[in-house]
Amino acid sequence: MFQRTAKILEHVPLAERTFRIRLACPEIAVALRPGQFVMLRLPGRSDPLLARPFAFYDVTSDATAFDVVYLVIGKMTTLLAEERIGNTLEVWGPLGQPFLDIGEPEQATCVAGGIGQTPFLAYAKELLGLQGYGNLPARKRVSQVSLYYGVRTASLAAGVADFQSIGVDVHVTSDDGSIGTKGYVTQSLESHNRMGPWIGCGPEPMLHALAKLAAKSDVQCQVSLETPMACGIGACFSCVAKVRTPDNGWDYKRVCLDGPAFDAKQLAWD
Ligand SMILES: Cc1cc2nc3c(=O)[nH]c(=O)nc-3n(C[C@H](O)[C@H](O)[C@H](O)COP(=O)(O)OP(=O)(O)OC[C@H]3O[C@@H](n4cnc5c(N)ncnc54)[C@H](O)[C@@H]3O)c2cc1C
Ligand code: FES
Repeated sequence: MFQRTAKILEHVPLAERTFRIRLACPEIAVALRPGQFVMLRLPGRSDPLLARPFAFYDVTSDATAFDVVYLVIGKMTTLLAEERIGNTLEVWGPLGQPFLDIGEPEQATCVAGGIGQTPFLAYAKELLGLQGYGNLPARKRVSQVSLYYGVRTASLAAGVADFQSIGVDVHVTSDDGSIGTKGYVTQSLESHNRMGPWIGCGPEPMLHALAKLAAKSDVQCQVSLETPMACGIGACFSCVAKVRTPDNGWDYKRVCLDGPAFDAKQLAWD
């Protein structure tokens, strides 16, 4: 893990309250694997004091910088949106584990809700053999990647063209029908009868619905949790998730160390 002060190279709006920020940081950029995340902190501020976790969206082709796509929801992200090109952020990473190994299936289906699409662009590029990450060479492992992406309304849909431009088959759903199919992302997934594996990221109720659907459909499924985190490095236990153990009991796992992706069957949802 590296801790660095990184310069902002780009900062552009992608959708309503949604921005892509590019940070110059070769040591972290070259080491990141899809599924991992970084902690970002605004330097010189005591409020908010704590850093916040963000998936990386992609790494530049020369691996000198990486992108984060974020939605403005509270204190830190509101201030982050005011940062200008040339300013710096404190960043540490790579953190957490890459997505769980899915082998080499014919197709893989990513399922995102809210801002949960962010870890899937680099993942799709890795699976399709378009780019290598973490010093690994590019190698095609999957013929087709689909993205089922649920948003509340059209103005919040961010990055759809990025996915389409690399050949991902994108299915958008919205709560109000203003973009794509009206309804929940899990309904769209179910109606298309998609084979596994499924890889989900988004708000917990959506991930729970996905886990139930995967169990019913007998499909291999992992979910990446967006649990709030204080340290990101395993020191504070603010990020624990309840995980089933082989003896039918359960244990707490730190999402920042053992996750953020877990086998959906392993999680004790209630
Ligand atoms: C591994 C991981 C990867 C993430 N990747 C991204 C990403 O790529 N892009 C992105 O925009 N966000 C991502 N998040 C979520 C992001 O960390 C939060 O949105 C961010 O911490 C909000 O900070 P804030 O100070 O703006 O909001 P705060 O002021 O801290 O919170 C505002 C409100 O939102 C609630 N809240 C905060 N975090 C969460 C959460 N994770 N889930 C539900 N409610 C929450 C708080 O309880 C509060 O009510 C990720 C989270 C994790 C754990
Ligand atoms: S965020 Fe501190 S232990 Fe996970």
